[in-house]
Amino acid sequence: MKAPDSATLLLYRGLSIGWFVSLSWLSYLRTQSPIPAIPGTSGFIRSYLGALRFFYQARDIISLGYNQDRGGVFRLSRFLRWEYLVIGKKRVLEVASAPDHVLSLDEGLRDALQSDYTMGPETTLNPYHIDVVRGALTRNLSRCFPRVHNEILHAFDDVLGLHDTEWKLVQVFPALNMIVARTTSRLFVDLPLCRDPGYLTLCIDNTIDIFMWGTSYSVLSLRVNLLFRILGPLLSKRKRNLRHALKFLGPMIDERVKQDNEYGTDWPDRPNDLISWLLDVARGEERTTAILTQRILTLYAVSIQTSSMTLTSALYDLVTYSDHILPMREEAERVVATQGWTKAALGNMHKIDSFLRESMRMNSQIIGLMRKVIGKDGFKFSDGTTIPYGSFISVPMAAAQLDPGTNIQQAIDCFRVNISRVNYDNADVFDGFRFARLREKQSGDRDTHEVTRTFTRHMVTTGFDHVVFGHGQHACPGR
Ligand code: HEM
Repeated sequence: MKAPDSATLLLYRGLSIGWFVSLSWLSYLRTQSPIPAIPGTSGFIRSYLGALRFFYQARDIISLGYNQDRGGVFRLSRFLRWEYLVIGKKRVLEVASAPDHVLSLDEGLRDALQSDYTMGPETTLNPYHIDVVRGALTRNLSRCFPRVHNEILHAFDDVLGLHDTEWKLVQVFPALNMIVARTTSRLFVDLPLCRDPGYLTLCIDNTIDIFMWGTSYSVLSLRVNLLFRILGPLLSKRKRNLRHALKFLGPMIDERVKQDNEYGTDWPDRPNDLISWLLDVARGEERTTAILTQRILTLYAVSIQTSSMTLTSALYDLVTYSDHILPMREEAERVVATQGWTKAALGNMHKIDSFLRESMRMNSQIIGLMRKVIGKDGFKFSDGTTIPYGSFISVPMAAAQLDPGTNIQQAIDCFRVNISRVNYDNADVFDGFRFARLREKQSGDRDTHEVTRTFTRHMVTTGFDHVVFGHGQHACPGR
């Protein structure tokens, strides 16, 4: 075939740029809104410059909006769309409690992570694994705790490979990622697969592919939807990873389905693991090996990256604020001396719980509680503020969790528009035991179980001011 001459190439380039600019301009006109944009990012060109700046100065750009905003909602330019950021208890709770047919997490993920291509349409269309995590997995945690505890010990020993008192340089995140993948696998698929390096690397790599490729695809797809429908499946590594995973999980799942079909779910020595918990619920084609494998990969994707990042931050905080180490060690030793290493014992380690929550507060992602507006009339807050159909809503959680306080003008403004800001005393200071002290203050001479039940500042208790696990009906079931 004859190569196009330079004039034709120039024409193609001109047409592509023209096409891109006119589509962007049209979408810009379509998304005009009375809600204020972050200072310096309104206007067609400046919105794109603002989006570019968000790539390398996200925290700064969000705090510009957070600190100037007086109405509790502002707009952030994200290259190919506007994202509406919501501040204050009332608005955050309204977002968290909105029904799925108006604000959707799934549709948000479908756009933001291209979940149909990266995780497969079956897992997004029928997300029954969420109920499995919330139900069987959570119910079985106490029973499975000994094997998880055992794996934590072995995984640290094997991954760090320390001998006696020698010192060694270790890359923190990859090491912890492997330890978390292994511990999670001990719960999900148990021995011996949970120690297979090939399997663990696949689970980690697949998770990275989902997040890295998913976000890149989402930029592509928003502009060239039709083209992306053809390219998406070709570009995605999902099928390749699935084929690889089937080599590890395929024979195991086949055998388990066969046994279940023959003897029901009550045969002797039926393993108490994720495969059984999924099979208890899966019906029809959901029981096929490939779809079950894909679902297990999806559960790895939502669990290991998040847990590894949390653990990494906590470890850095531990060495940075090392005066916390001794009190936490003493607490662990005291509790374990009477209760042993059990899940219930962990629930009595209040200082450790407080430290982890504080670490999450200080190191959280910049935005959270992401939802897509899919209600045809948009999403209406109780004060009438409306977010248009098709846009994204989220919470600037890092800014809110680090909000140092309200000055008098802000207080007057907040009162006027009925928003209550999140404030922590000395919010910019790491205070690992702030929540443990709060708990102690609230307990008085009340029964410990009663305090545990009612205390609202545990690491895993979500709230408008603690959305690192989300909040409302979609709050992380694995937390
Ligand atoms: C420190 C660790 C973790 C963090 C920070 C975390 C965080 C989150 C967040 C922010 C969400 C979205 C919630 C929302 O937007 O309202 C979520 C959802 C989810 N998480 Fe986690 N997660 C963690 C660990 C886990 C683990 C270990 C599992 C499984 C064993 C898991 C399973 C899920 C599932 C299935 C969803 C989807 C819930 C839904 O769509 O309703 N997560 N998680």
